[in-house]
Amino acid sequence: MSLIYVLNGPNLNLLGKRQPHIYGHETLADVEADCRKLAAELGHEIRFHQSNREYEIIDWIHEAREDGAGIVINPAAFTHTSLAILDALNTFEGPVIEIHISNVHKRESFRHHSFVSHRADGVICGLGTEGYQLGIRRAATMIKAASKG
Ligand code: DQA
Repeated sequence: MSLIYVLNGPNLNLLGKRQPHIYGHETLADVEADCRKLAAELGHEIRFHQSNREYEIIDWIHEAREDGAGIVINPAAFTHTSLAILDALNTFEGPVIEIHISNVHKRESFRHHSFVSHRADGVICGLGTEGYQLGIRRAATMIKAASKG
């Protein structure tokens, strides 16, 4: 059973309460429960984390280098600012899927650039919290393909 890390950046702890017209009514705990259910169905274990601190996200990416097969990440605002998260992801060899709940391209221009997209194998945005499910499915497909060589 290989491990998929699902990492969430700043303010996502407020999911469900924060700008629900943009991010919806589901809480991060709801998202985590859905991710755990799907991962189990696909034969994977997940580590699900959220932090408002950039270094913690970097530390989890380093941890994933040791025991993770894939990373699904919603870096939130760090998407648009963090070269350090990009550098950390560049040290990880498995699939990386970037998720945004909202369609960042329909929003302010400062949300249009993503450091993380320079590394991500795929980017999902604007599909609401369903994007996490799709990201986990894609990571699982890529992990399976890699294991077959
Ligand atoms: C977000 C989009 C980012 O621009 C924003 O800073 C977030 C959430 C999303 O999931 O749509 O915090 O990553």
